[in-house]
Amino acid sequence: MNQLLTVEDLSVAEIDHLLELARSFDAVLGRSVPKVPALRGKTVVLAFFEDSTRTRASFDLAARRLSADVATFAAGSSSLSKGESLRDTVETITAMGVDAIVVRHPHPGVPLAISRYTTASVINAGDGRHQHPTQALLDAHTLRETLGDIEGRRILMCGDILNSRVARSNIALFSKLGAEVIVCGPNTLLPPHSGSEMFGVSVEVVEDLDAVIPTIDVAYMLRIQQERIADAALPTLREYRSVYGLTVARADRMAPQAVVMHPGPMNRGVEIDPDVADSERALITTQVANGVSVRMAVLYELLGPGQFDDRDSGTYALSAEFDLINPDGSHDETQQHAEQEVVR
Ligand code: MLT
Repeated sequence: MNQLLTVEDLSVAEIDHLLELARSFDAVLGRSVPKVPALRGKTVVLAFFEDSTRTRASFDLAARRLSADVATFAAGSSSLSKGESLRDTVETITAMGVDAIVVRHPHPGVPLAISRYTTASVINAGDGRHQHPTQALLDAHTLRETLGDIEGRRILMCGDILNSRVARSNIALFSKLGAEVIVCGPNTLLPPHSGSEMFGVSVEVVEDLDAVIPTIDVAYMLRIQQERIADAALPTLREYRSVYGLTVARADRMAPQAVVMHPGPMNRGVEIDPDVADSERALITTQVANGVSVRMAVLYELLGPGQFDDRDSGTYALSAEFDLINPDGSHDETQQHAEQEVVR
């Protein structure tokens, strides 16, 4: 694996491997000094051409927790605003000796274009309404931790499916992992689909949220993408909430163990009621926390020395890359043997 551009690039074995790695990094993040020297000497550039709070901070922290150097490229204050082409900008960044470029861009396909202009690994951190593969991975990690397995689970993706890269990525990934994916939203916010096929995978398209609510294991609520939406696509937000919002009354009709997810940022009181977002069913802060370990796994897989090759034995041997770093910057060799194995 040299790039992560779309969920379609990942086989089930690669997804399983990344999620196992993320579990190892969860253990690292639970330590008093949550940092390992695995990517020391590597440089990660965060190239964000669109607003982001959680994804940028999450990649930034993930790279630093692995001891990589991080440089941030702010599109607004770059030479792009002086007319430099994307290609020249990428070649300039590459010439500085970077190992990975994490790209967020409002236009679909830009991370792929950038991957053609650079020898660095490119990670898609969200391109327009197209893809957001690390969001799908962190959601799968969260569900595996919470529900045990994803296979056979009924996962409802509800809301603005048409404009959501999270919908596109998650529908593909959940379906690869054997979930039954149910899609619900206003017709104007559903992509063209024939029968039960959407984005090339088989889904169940439902019109009546109330009918499906008691049958699902996961209610994944999507933000109304106001920045990408045509005005005519939606009547009023109040009407949207009454038909497609996860209200307290609807959440009360979910199965006892069913959970609620949202990628953030939330429009509280539109697609999800505040009391539901803050309830025990909601995994929203767990999703954010898992974003760091999953992005560590992706960065490590792309840039690390690749010592996690022993995939069939059921045990991943941890090398010195996973030693603790002491607060003074030295390695804690004594921890190495104690933490030498992570058993599945
Ligand atoms: C995204 O960047 O796609 C977010 O995580 C979800 C959203 O913006 O609704």
